[in-house]
Amino acid sequence: MSRDLAGSRRPEGVLIAASILDADLGDLSDEIRRAEDAGADRIHLDVMDGHFVPNITFGWTMIHAVRRVTSLPFDAHLMISEPGRWTEQFLDSGCDSITFHVEVDAPQIRPALERIREAGRLAGLSVKPGTPLEALDPYRELLDIVLVMTVEPGFGGQSFMADVADAKLAAARRWLDPAGASEVQVDGGGKAETAEAIGRGGTDVIVAGSALYRADDMAAEVERIRSIASAARAATLAG
Ligand code: DX5
Ligand code: ZN
Repeated sequence: MSRDLAGSRRPEGVLIAASILDADLGDLSDEIRRAEDAGADRIHLDVMDGHFVPNITFGWTMIHAVRRVTSLPFDAHLMISEPGRWTEQFLDSGCDSITFHVEVDAPQIRPALERIREAGRLAGLSVKPGTPLEALDPYRELLDIVLVMTVEPGFGGQSFMADVADAKLAAARRWLDPAGASEVQVDGGGKAETAEAIGRGGTDVIVAGSALYRADDMAAEVERIRSIASAARAATLAG
């Protein structure tokens, strides 16, 4: 996925990114294929370092190992304190987009975003629920992706923060670029019951973990989330 797709990426419907955090990590290749077969549009990779968040998951070695399993785009979500230090490794592991948190030490942010874009990948910043969107202001021109957290980062299966979604999603859409060449993504508690609120905000990509990997029928769940969110989004965009 290269940036020249970005301009033409305003998809008709909302895209679904499967977060593998809730997958059976002991059988990860099959779990990634299962998401692809179920109709997911992306694979969302939650990298945690036990410092930025109170959990440790996996890194670029594991990402590289499963890169050959699918041609679906890999969206890396780095919940680590030093994304600037490890940018090359995540680029080399085959991530199509790399999003890290605006709450990390500031001096590393701009160089890391520039390096990700220079490598022809999509660069993103994520904001925790308590962080105002204004924190992104200094980096707008470097952003292909804004990832709005609707749970405190660190774990899957948490409850969706509807107030955060209401306060930030439509605002992020308006702020980033109304034309839609860049993406607004939502992460945390994405499922059929929250899809309307997410779609109403004009969101482009919904990350879903437990809703997909704990579903009896993953394909039906992907379609349910997508159709509910896409209808709400279409209504919003129609104004
Ligand atoms: C949480 C992660 C999310 C999480 C989503 O810190 O960034 O991507 O895996 O899982 P659900 O959809 O279960 O909230
Ligand atoms: Zn995530």
